[in-house]
Amino acid sequence: MTEQAVRLDFHALVMEHHLLREIHYVLSADDNGRMERVSLTGMLDELYDRLYEHFLAEEHGGYMSDVLRRAPHLADEAARLSGEHPLFLLEVRECRREADYQEAPYSADLRGRFRKFAERYLHHEHHENSLVQRAFDVDIGVGD
Ligand SMILES: [Fe+2]
Repeated sequence: MTEQAVRLDFHALVMEHHLLREIHYVLSADDNGRMERVSLTGMLDELYDRLYEHFLAEEHGGYMSDVLRRAPHLADEAARLSGEHPLFLLEVRECRREADYQEAPYSADLRGRFRKFAERYLHHEHHENSLVQRAFDVDIGVGD
C-alpha cells in the first residue's frame, strides 16, 4: 500500500462527522414513525468501517509519520493517541451489539454510551490536530 493510498481525504472526514451527527439524531428521536426506514445498526456498521479506514490511514502514512519525522520528541504522545484507536472501534462495536436488540425509542443507556464515545473520539481528534500543529511549529522554528 502506498503512502498516497492511505492518506485521509477531506471528504471522508466530512462524511464521518455527518454520520456521527446522524446517529446521535436517530438515538435521540422518539418513536414517531419517521425513523422506521433508518437502520441504526447499518449506520453503526458504516461508522465502524469508516473509523477502521481512518485509523489505518493515520497509523500508516498519516500524521504519525509526519510527527515522527518532524518532532521525534512527540513520539510517545503520538503512540499513546494511536493506542486509543482499538478502544474506539470496540466502543462502536459495543453500541452496535446493544442496538441489535432495540428499536426506537432507544434506551438512555445506549444513547449515553454513544454520546460518551463521540465526546471522547472528538477529543482524541482535537488532540491529534494539536499534536500535528506542534510538530509543524517545531519544524518552522516557532515551537519551544
Ligand atoms: Fe486517531
